[in-house]
Amino acid sequence: MFKVNENYLKLPGSYLFSTIGKKVNAYAQENLDKKIIRLGIGDVTQPLAPVVIEALHKAVDEMGHAETFHGYAPDLGYEFLRKAIVEHDYQARGCKIALDEVFISDGAKSDSGNIGDIFALENKIAVCDPVYPVYVDTNAMAGRTGEYLEETQKWSNVIYMPCTAETNFAPELPSEEPDLIYLCFPNNPTGSTITKKELQKWVDYALKVGAVIIYDAAYEAYITEEEVPHSIYECEGAAACAIEIRSFSKNAGFTGTRLGFTVIPKELKCKGVSLNSLWARRQGTKFNGAPYIVQRAGEAVYSEEGRKQTKEQIAYYMRNAKVICEGLVSAGYTVSGGVNAPYIWLKTPKGMSSWEFFDYLLEQANVVGTPGAGFGPSGEGYFRLTAFGSYENTLEAMERIKRL
Ligand code: MLT
Repeated sequence: MFKVNENYLKLPGSYLFSTIGKKVNAYAQENLDKKIIRLGIGDVTQPLAPVVIEALHKAVDEMGHAETFHGYAPDLGYEFLRKAIVEHDYQARGCKIALDEVFISDGAKSDSGNIGDIFALENKIAVCDPVYPVYVDTNAMAGRTGEYLEETQKWSNVIYMPCTAETNFAPELPSEEPDLIYLCFPNNPTGSTITKKELQKWVDYALKVGAVIIYDAAYEAYITEEEVPHSIYECEGAAACAIEIRSFSKNAGFTGTRLGFTVIPKELKCKGVSLNSLWARRQGTKFNGAPYIVQRAGEAVYSEEGRKQTKEQIAYYMRNAKVICEGLVSAGYTVSGGVNAPYIWLKTPKGMSSWEFFDYLLEQANVVGTPGAGFGPSGEGYFRLTAFGSYENTLEAMERIKRL
């Protein structure tokens, strides 16, 4: 008789954004006359930049001719895209990353979920609390997190690093030594960031205790402050202890187009075994690459025009972030984030729990957000709004919230 992976049975509920999606759809079905504004999941709303569309069309045409047709992509991804990434994301910031240290993928979510494949089950993970649920759920699926404890809403074998108002929503070095440390800056969900000097402390710590940092930099394009690093490789020694995961979803609107990449420096080794070669083996076996046409679209993001057009999109979303922050503050809310990130983290009013506030906002203002508790126990009493809506909807959502 076959057996299922029982680790899945330990997972509480469904994936956070699926739960929210179901709740909102049920409400929408029962309230057909209501215009719901969705500022929950961090999904973009602006169309792809014209230069990206042009590149897609061109690549589609190439696929229609035998001479320019492309089949399976190379294991690591096309060199034209890896070159653009190395040059613009790394060399331009003084980071020495080689072409064969970049692995093109179909997005940061799958990479951050799959990266656990190359690590032993015995590794103990440390995560921020609140945290992007994919890091924890995928480790739970692998059987690395112990048991889920309903009373504390924590896993028994996970090191939680509370990110609270007292710590400026940034984690502090854990007292118990982890093997794998998940960091995400600018942070999802709180929108917080740390300076290069602070990130250097994490790199030094990882090198000291022999841990690997899995650094999710999906929101780096939203950084506005000078002292905030765009890549962990800006820190000294990071190439020997850090993996960086990036996405085209938030900087160029590829949430539906799917493209991302992971950087694993060859210097990153465990007892002489290179993680770069393990990941190459994993991807070569389990993944057939992002489509040629999408990789061409990704290349266009790095062209001069592409950088200009995507910068305008980011400015558009950051204008929304400002509208949300200012609107909430004027309505008396305590707010953070929204400066280097498209997420605004607010304290729920009148002692409401995050799910109570979710229902209240949905029913009274027809605005959807994400309850902080869905990201971990320290998220209780908080709520996340995204700046990825349209400007008009964002303005309207704020007007509705102010009227509550
Ligand atoms: C979020 O809303 O946290 C993200 O959009 C989810 C994701 O990127 O997978």
